[in-house]
Parts: sequence; structure tokens; C-alpha cells
Amino acid sequence: MREKLCHGAWQDLDIPRREALKRLLTRVWPGDEAPDLPWFDACLEPYSVWIAQNGIALAHAAILHKTVRVGGESFLACGLSCVATDPDFRGRGLGRRVLADATWTLLEGRADFAVFTCDRELLPFYAESGWREADALVLRAGEGAAALSSEHMPDKAVLLRLMSPRARAAAAHFSHGVLTLGLPDGQFW
Ligand SMILES: CC(C)(COP(=O)(O)OP(=O)(O)OC[C@H]1O[C@@H](n2cnc3c(N)ncnc32)[C@H](O)[C@@H]1OP(=O)(O)O)[C@@H](O)C(=O)NCCC(=O)NCCS
Repeated sequence: MREKLCHGAWQDLDIPRREALKRLLTRVWPGDEAPDLPWFDACLEPYSVWIAQNGIALAHAAILHKTVRVGGESFLACGLSCVATDPDFRGRGLGRRVLADATWTLLEGRADFAVFTCDRELLPFYAESGWREADALVLRAGEGAAALSSEHMPDKAVLLRLMSPRARAAAAHFSHGVLTLGLPDGQFW
């Protein structure tokens, strides 16, 4: 049976679809089954894009959302998270397809800008969908000293895309320094 590209806000997905996505994500990140991970957190308005075959999820990307303050202004930020392909189906272009579609969805959405971290070795993979590293920008999960931060993660790169005219007009505030997402404790994207 052909692979099918699927979309949906996590809150609107029925149980079989949620279970299919959880199965995929726990195959990719075993031990992360706790339901409080970012892709399940309603306050981040998770939206999933995935490729399924016979009801089995093979590849996935989540778009998460958060209102943040940058340069004294409020912006709706979004980021990609949980970009993953089932280990048995890698190297067949599924990751590329799901990333391209999630990127397109995100660009068509209402967020002012997108920012997230990726494994540095995957920069070429993300670059194919137009993502560029913001190498002078530090991305922090929260305000506290213990908050996760890209500056302490040498294997991670920060990717940034300014979408709305308002975000583009504030480009100077995004070019360097620290951008704090204000995520719930323990979360990062
Ligand atoms: C990253 C991932 C989603 C790629 O999925 P995939 O379905 O195998 O990707 P594709 O087959 O579409 O490959 C697209 C390109 O990315 C490259 N690529 C894939 N995984 C890579 C990796 N780990 N390191 C470097 N390049 C990689 C491929 O070589 C391919 O390029 P090519 O066609 O020139 O060879 C998959 O390896 C995965 O789930 N990894 C574990 C989870 C993870 O690390 N997610 C990203 C978090 S930032």
C-alpha cells in the first residue's frame, strides 16, 4: 500500500493515530515514553506531519508554538521537534519528505518566526528544506540557570527563519544574543 502524508493538530488526533505516532517516537527515542514530552504538551499547540503506511507511522515532524518576547515585542514563535524516521525505514527519503512538508506547513502558518535546534551533523539535511544556521544566536529553554541552552550543547546548531514582516523588521534582535523560549520545565526544541 502507498505511503500517505498526514497532518493534524495533536489535540484533534484520534487514539489510533496518536498511538501510531507514539509508537514511532518511542522506537526512535526509547525511554522517552513519558506523556509530558513537548510533542504532547497542549500549551505548545503541537501539530504533527507524518507519513503512514497501513496505519503505521514511518516518519514524523512536529511543529510547536510559543509566544515569546524579543526586543520588547511579543512574537508567535514556532519550532520543529521530533523529526524522526522509523529506524527500519531510513535512507529512503521519508525524512526529507516529512521535513519538506512540515517546513511548508510552518511557513504557511501564523507564526512570526521559526527557531529550533538540530544536531549539527544534520545541518545539510535541514539545509535542503531551506533552513540556515543562526550561528551567533543562543537559544535557551527558559530563564532559570538550569534551563537547557544551545550554548551548552556543542553538538547542536540553532536554525532560524523570520517569516512575518514584523519579525523581519526586527531582524537585528535575532542576529545575535540570547533568545529565551520560556518553555515548561525540562522542555526544549
Ligand atoms: C534524521 C532522520 C529523520 C533522517 O531520516 P531519513 O528518512 O533516513 O532521511 P532521508 O532518507 O530522507 O535522507 C535525507 C538526507 O539526509 C541525510 N541524512 C540522514 N540521516 C543523517 C544523519 N544521521 N547524519 C547526516 N546525514 C543524514 C541522508 O544522507 C540524505 O542525504 P542523501 O540523499 O544525500 O544521502 C533519521 O535519521 C532519524 O530519525 N534520526 C534519529 C532522530 C533524529 O536525530 N532526529 C533529528 C533531530 S535534530
